[in-house]
Amino acid sequence: MSTTLINTIEIIKAGTTKINDVDFDNLHFGEVFTDHLFECDFKNGEWQKPIIKPYAPFLLDPSAKVFHYGQAIFEGMKAYKDDNNDIWLFRPDENYLRFNNSAIRMAMPEVPEDVFMEGLNQLLKLDSEWIKKGKGNSMYIRPFMIATGAGVIANPSEEYKFMIILSPAKSYYSGEVKVLIAEHFSRAANGGIGAAKAAGNYAAQFYPTTLANKAGFQQIIWTDDATHTKLEEAGTMNVFFRINDTLYTAPTSERILDGITRKSLIDMAKRENIEVEVRPVLVSELVEAAKNGNLKEIFGAGTAAVVNPIIGFSYKEEYFELPKIENSIASQLKEKLTNIQHKLAEDTFGWTVKV
Ligand code: COI
Repeated sequence: MSTTLINTIEIIKAGTTKINDVDFDNLHFGEVFTDHLFECDFKNGEWQKPIIKPYAPFLLDPSAKVFHYGQAIFEGMKAYKDDNNDIWLFRPDENYLRFNNSAIRMAMPEVPEDVFMEGLNQLLKLDSEWIKKGKGNSMYIRPFMIATGAGVIANPSEEYKFMIILSPAKSYYSGEVKVLIAEHFSRAANGGIGAAKAAGNYAAQFYPTTLANKAGFQQIIWTDDATHTKLEEAGTMNVFFRINDTLYTAPTSERILDGITRKSLIDMAKRENIEVEVRPVLVSELVEAAKNGNLKEIFGAGTAAVVNPIIGFSYKEEYFELPKIENSIASQLKEKLTNIQHKLAEDTFGWTVKV
């Protein structure tokens, strides 16, 4: 979707910066935000004039539909600064497409391409000091849209707010990740909103994930809602399983998010002649492979999580710890991916886009 809504974005600069209060070496994911945000409202059937302004709380009517019906979507993206101080985005077109697909599924208006891309580019340029160089550093970008229309009648809002906020980031998980395989709770069902980045998909995971956390696990690997026999995704990331020398990952579906890191890893692995099978992976296969020593690796893949090794899993009260291995495929793929993202290796896929 492309329009010419943006000729100029109004920019109101913050009077002071918070940057000197930030300890960039000890960032907890998603807790610090830059000096500015981008905002564009939808009213009277059209997108209004966009603005970049100081990051600050804002007022909403208590009956706004986002509070009552959860009409809200978001994206997760990252920007990186190279050694020449140039800023790069990773596959932003994919995030834009997925954002609007989420909007359609949640009966929200699509955001015009120039609003999304120009808003993001100008915001990143304005807050570029906040993007630190070097592997392990990135700027996490959170575009989101909420229903701001007032009234508790259960129908789609007529008013929306699209915003982009920026959060300097290091890693998402700080320690080892162990997972629980879901036996009862479900993340999504066919015909539902699992493929959309809808806020409610994440809220629905909080209760079962809190139970898992209390039992010593950082994440749940969700299984299909109908039979709980197929491994799907892990809520904050898609998952890969290495059995012997083949990587397996579930196909995306109405229940599984079409992860951009996931599809990038599949393309990279294929190019490295690593065998990849995209097909439903059964819990029973995983348990069997763990028991007979063929399960070599499990790892998650996501924008925030990047490529995150999973050291063990529990299923029906039995815990399986993975062997420590050399030449892990997860480490190889992570190294190649982050080299491309940080412009330390040639991007032969054409995934990086300069801001
Ligand atoms: C991302 O990886 O960008 C996500 O949206 C996952 C979120 C739970 C941090």
